[in-house]
Amino acid sequence: MTQPASTPIPANVPRHVAIIMDGNGRWAKQRSRPRTFGHSEGVEALRRTVEAAGDLGVEYLTVFGFSTENWRRPAEEVNALFDLLRLYVARDLDKLAREGVRVRIIGEREGLQGDIAEIIANAEAKTRHNDKLNLIIAFNYGGQDEIARAARRIATDVAAGKLKADDIDPDRFATYLDTAGIPAPDMLIRTSGELRLSNFMLWQAAYSELIFVDVLWPDFGKPSLEAAIEAYQRRERRYGGTDPEPR
Ligand code: IPE
Ligand code: IPE
Ligand code: MG
Repeated sequence: MTQPASTPIPANVPRHVAIIMDGNGRWAKQRSRPRTFGHSEGVEALRRTVEAAGDLGVEYLTVFGFSTENWRRPAEEVNALFDLLRLYVARDLDKLAREGVRVRIIGEREGLQGDIAEIIANAEAKTRHNDKLNLIIAFNYGGQDEIARAARRIATDVAAGKLKADDIDPDRFATYLDTAGIPAPDMLIRTSGELRLSNFMLWQAAYSELIFVDVLWPDFGKPSLEAAIEAYQRRERRYGGTDPEPR
């Protein structure tokens, strides 16, 4: 069923939007440019989207910037993606901090170059007290890796007698994830037409509304986000029950 696009209903905006920002390479290829050009235009799309999410009243925006599997790409491209994180934080952190955005990074930090670890720690510390919009950047992130790291820490706590094996349930488990304290995404968008999660938020997406759009990430912005929210607002969330439930 298609319905004409309208403005999203402000009262029912998803509290947490997660995005797999995909299609930078194809966007560049269409223009006969290097993949890295697609990635830098992708940063512009990210800026537009952060702005739009704040305007629309989204509380949490999580974006997938680099996966634990993206190390398979040529070193030159991997370096370019790391450089873009450096550039994005250098250029935008002050503005984000001023505008009330709290920045957090999820993913495996071990093994990241020293300056990246520092940049992450600084961005988080500097915006710690903000609460207008939570911007969560998944960097060197993989859902399976996150769950395995959580399990390792749980095992350590059990061995140390700090946690009883019988007390491990989904709520307790979630406190060991990188997203501890962050509500699960209400809506998960993937751009570029691919229909898969590619190891993103495997635990957290259990009941997320999945939205797949054909637009390539560098073309994404406020209109695309509004259209996704409208689609979300036409969904019925049941969480395994028989009747629609309020979020
Ligand atoms: C998404 O675009 C950015 C990252 C994965 C870092 P891609 O680089 O995957 O672009 P496509 O999917 O090859 O078009
Ligand atoms: C997922 O996209 C990772 C990010 C967007 C950071 P990929 O482009 O790496 O995913 P696959 O390889 O198409 O599954
Ligand atoms: Mg891709």
